[in-house]
Amino acid sequence: MRGLLNLFANASIFVLVAAAASQWPVHNDGYTGAVQWDHYSLSVNGRRTFVWSGEFHYWRIPVPEVWRDLLEKIKAAGFNTVSVYSHWAFHAPNNFTIDFETGARNIAKIFELATEIGLFVTLRGGPYVNAETTAGGFALWTTTGAYGGLRDNDPRYTAAWTPFTTRLNQIAAKYQVTEGGTILLQQIENEICCQRNKDGSLNTPLVEYMVALENNTRENDVIVPIITNAPNMNSKSWSTDYLPGPGEQDLYGVDSYPACWSCNLAECGQKEISFNVVNYHDHFDQVSPTQPSFIPEFQGGSYNPWGGPQGGCPANLGPEFVNVFYRHLAAERITMASLYMLYGGTNWGGFATNLVGTSYDYSAPIQESRQIADKYYETKILGFFFRAAQDLTMTDRVGYSTSYTTDPTVGVTELRNPETHAAFYVARHDISASQNITDFKVNVATSVGNLTIPQFSAPVRLSGRQSKVLVTDFRFGDRSLVYSTAEVLSHSVVDGKSVLALWLPAGESGELMIKGGSAKREVVSGTGGSFHQVGENLVVSYTQQTTQSVLQFDDFRVLLLSRAIAYRFWAPTLTNDPIVSPEQVVFATGPYLVRSLTLSDVTARVTGDLDGDTVLEVFAPAKVTRLEWNGKLVATHKTSYGSLKATLGKPGFNAAALQKSLTLSQWKYADALPERYAAYDDSKWVVADHMSTPNPSKPQTLPVLYADDYGFHTGVQIFRGRFNGSASAATLNVQGGTAFGWSAWLNGDYIGSFPGSASAASGSLTLSFANATLVSSGENVLTVVMDHSGHDQRADALLPRGILGASLVSTENTTFSKWTLAGNAGGESNIDPVRGVIAEGGLHAERLGWHLPGFDDTEWVTRSPSDGVENATIGFFRTTSHINLPRGYDASLELVLTAPAGSLLRAQLYVNGYQYGKFVPQIGHQIAFPVPPGILNVRGQNVVGLNLWSQTAAGAKVDVKWNVLGVYESAWDPGFDAGYLQPGWSEERLQFA
Ligand SMILES: *[C@@H]1O[C@H](CO)[C@@H](O)[C@H](O)[C@H]1NC(C)=O
Ligand SMILES: *[C@@H]1O[C@H](CO)[C@@H](O)[C@H](O)[C@H]1NC(C)=O
Repeated sequence: MRGLLNLFANASIFVLVAAAASQWPVHNDGYTGAVQWDHYSLSVNGRRTFVWSGEFHYWRIPVPEVWRDLLEKIKAAGFNTVSVYSHWAFHAPNNFTIDFETGARNIAKIFELATEIGLFVTLRGGPYVNAETTAGGFALWTTTGAYGGLRDNDPRYTAAWTPFTTRLNQIAAKYQVTEGGTILLQQIENEICCQRNKDGSLNTPLVEYMVALENNTRENDVIVPIITNAPNMNSKSWSTDYLPGPGEQDLYGVDSYPACWSCNLAECGQKEISFNVVNYHDHFDQVSPTQPSFIPEFQGGSYNPWGGPQGGCPANLGPEFVNVFYRHLAAERITMASLYMLYGGTNWGGFATNLVGTSYDYSAPIQESRQIADKYYETKILGFFFRAAQDLTMTDRVGYSTSYTTDPTVGVTELRNPETHAAFYVARHDISASQNITDFKVNVATSVGNLTIPQFSAPVRLSGRQSKVLVTDFRFGDRSLVYSTAEVLSHSVVDGKSVLALWLPAGESGELMIKGGSAKREVVSGTGGSFHQVGENLVVSYTQQTTQSVLQFDDFRVLLLSRAIAYRFWAPTLTNDPIVSPEQVVFATGPYLVRSLTLSDVTARVTGDLDGDTVLEVFAPAKVTRLEWNGKLVATHKTSYGSLKATLGKPGFNAAALQKSLTLSQWKYADALPERYAAYDDSKWVVADHMSTPNPSKPQTLPVLYADDYGFHTGVQIFRGRFNGSASAATLNVQGGTAFGWSAWLNGDYIGSFPGSASAASGSLTLSFANATLVSSGENVLTVVMDHSGHDQRADALLPRGILGASLVSTENTTFSKWTLAGNAGGESNIDPVRGVIAEGGLHAERLGWHLPGFDDTEWVTRSPSDGVENATIGFFRTTSHINLPRGYDASLELVLTAPAGSLLRAQLYVNGYQYGKFVPQIGHQIAFPVPPGILNVRGQNVVGLNLWSQTAAGAKVDVKWNVLGVYESAWDPGFDAGYLQPGWSEERLQFA
């Protein structure tokens, strides 16, 4: 069988491949027959399915109400599956609490929403997820070293993850596809290498860890298949087909980021992104031949590291990337793929990492602001095609060659269904990065013989970075197209008759051959093409106009759409079954977004969002005469060809109106670093007195000043060291992760800062006391404030955060007599179970709850962040901003922070108690911080706070402004009551001074 794949295509393969199909074994995981697979694809309850999935992280959008908005946008783009990482640290603040209930920790809500909306779920539960998140998702209390090196069979580590994993599996078990839910697949670790050592022997600590995770999953009644994701194609671990052994998982997959995985192209050693497609099929033929070819993570965008370009790199990974690379997945015979990320979200609070800072927009198809644009629309086109092309779930890859075409610079991959003989010819420039405009014809093998297509129209065109899937013997209903050079967009059956939507960029030519022909060949709307009877078949050739054309044939109809129309084309489903048949699809065009469509007698109810003047067109059953848009009956007329049209008009409220209504003024201010003064009372602080640490990295001086050893794992930490006697300077080596920084004061006087960089994970300075006043008798207090940028991932999660070494420069051998330490209020205990311990750090303002709604700042002075702070210190600014978004609208808002060039500062932005932005202009790219509804009250008051830390004696200023990114008339209401997510200030905070 495998030899065949290398053969060059010709008509004889048409026969050969057909004979081979039955050779492949059908597998299930031994726990359920509901999910089975073979060489070709996954089957759910006996139905072959192209698993088209995208990743989203609920903990990066901690507002359950917003999950609906996102999942509806995912469903609307033709995806049938959503992939979700959990986050152990988010659910387990300490080693005795597991919270899957409070606020956004209620993971079951996602499974319920997915079931309702009609999406399968791949749950990637950890305990380890990587995800560019702090400590890769490990519970932060495991970063001390007390639980061993992590990710192995160490009984301490096993005991640590077992309660979390058990609970998660127990919840997941209830929502499996076998239980009326939609969890289809589960992943138990992440990109973990390697099952075997270099000499081929088993890597026992790792194998036993995987077996223990799998055991836990099965013991807690998870019966769906377990998947594994190998980064790139190097590790070849855990496949049942390749050097099988213990720890192997049911379905092997490869994670692939063929362009650069980072917006900083230097990280990949590149000057521009790679636009070269990758060969996967040889790898899958070797490592997982009896399984579907599976990409559990395919590049949905790139992360934007500290120091990367403002706004990320959407241009690198825009519609062209989607068009070529996602079609290439199909060309590689992949039938299971998930985009990482489909919605990135925000690294709010302590999720911000040394790698990427606050934004996790990822330049993904759905933007951090929840807005959708061309990248989403281009992705949607392909999602609809995957759904319509049932024969794509079972194909042999006949081969790839430039000989298929009349132009040697264009290559084609031929995929052929061995049962139906339908074929898919995926065309692209042989050099996939080519920007040429190339016209060509393609040699195809069809049921009516070998043809060179198109036969009558202008040639097929690739306009630069573009790929096309040409179909042959494409079945729709009981008809078929012998071929089409226009791409198939979607298929719907209405009143028992097929409607087939085809699309092409305007100005390009297309041609289709209708098997068996059609006596009727009527252009009922728009411009038609020309019709050619060829034998008993009918060829239609045309040039795509900017407008839509509708062609009526005997028993079906064809819509010819330009890209612009296809972008605003929707195929909502009448069922919540993630596997959608064309009978359950109704076409609707026009709006920015269509979320749902339901039919009830003569009424079609459509919900969605508008961004401007819109005409809605619905291709509903004939008896439907009434159209409701977002619950309101709209004036409708029936077109000559039977669709319903309604002019929805322009939304009455817009972004400019909202922008005009927003203010940020009347700021209040307080000094937020009283800890710098020697007299500050820190008697309630933790005394840092450990003389040993479980951490494998040993400190340079004692006591141990690793914050994690004292239960503080996120955010800013403040250390205070005392000494009696004389000294001229202090040498401090501080480690907070790349992009971190620190500053120090002696007895209230500023002595210096490490402003940080995108590459320095630690910073050592000897700071002179020349500009400070020492007390001649009594205690001197050195205050060190460290900005913590999160823990590293993988084994490096154990790299300590805090002071690695602290000593005095003193002719009298003066040493520190005592150290105290402040981190987030309550440490590992849950002072704010809603936002969680990961939400905040140990800044004075955070410990005392100044960032929270309900804190009384009436005694504070009036001062704005644009007046800033003088000298090197920390100040906190607070104001209240009212937003009054009218009902029926959704809005995307962000706060924009700017500072004069040359500023050395660290600012943290708070909205209603959530830290939603970390602004470090000397390092970072990010100045604009989107804030979602639920964090923001779009119909009400918002407490906005800014913690401003100047790292220079020159002081610091920051301008804070609202920016409205967009306003949409919307069926989704962002004005829900989010009070339960925004607990206010309480007196309990006072004890953490
Ligand atoms: C939980 O953490 C505490 C505090 O670090 C420690 O003393 C205790 O041994 C831990 N318990 C377990 C079961 O690991
Ligand atoms: C996994 O479960 C099997 C079967 O119950 C058992 O024999 C084995 O010891 C378990 N292994 C681990 C590492 O938990």
